[in-house]
Amino acid sequence: MSTVELSFKLNGQETTVSVSPDTLMVDLLREGLGLTGTKAGCREGECGACTVLVDGTPVNSCLMPAIKAQGREVTTIEGLEMADGTLAPLQEAFMGEGAAQCGFCTPAMILTATALLKENQDPDEGEIRHALSGVICRCTGYRKIVQAVQTAAKARS
Ligand code: FES
Ligand code: FES
Repeated sequence: MSTVELSFKLNGQETTVSVSPDTLMVDLLREGLGLTGTKAGCREGECGACTVLVDGTPVNSCLMPAIKAQGREVTTIEGLEMADGTLAPLQEAFMGEGAAQCGFCTPAMILTATALLKENQDPDEGEIRHALSGVICRCTGYRKIVQAVQTAAKARS
């Protein structure tokens, strides 16, 4: 199949790659660009593990043709660290609260929570659980994940 040129901003960097029109964003990120922080789980839009931010909004990258990113901004977990190389407050909070066990869902949780805290700087537990409802975790029971988001929200205020 012929390829097309895709130009988009990835984790703050202007990026141009050749992709097949049927390449999915999750595969471009993981296999084409080596950004394996984005996980591939169900590949059916059910588990949320493949979540990335597109123009700041959580998107299932397993359902997104990569070419849809043309001219847009995509953020993966690798793009969240601070300019000085330290972890973002949400990443620190997930570590501090023990909010990751196997960690498979964690990048998606953190990216989704990043989008939530941008819209709502002081979410209550129900709002956090609602925002994270598209990402399935089979390990933690969610309590520590919710605590981590609350801790990060407090650290920002
Ligand atoms: S891998 Fe995309 S939603 Fe499960
Ligand atoms: S920490 Fe294992 S799936 Fe969430």
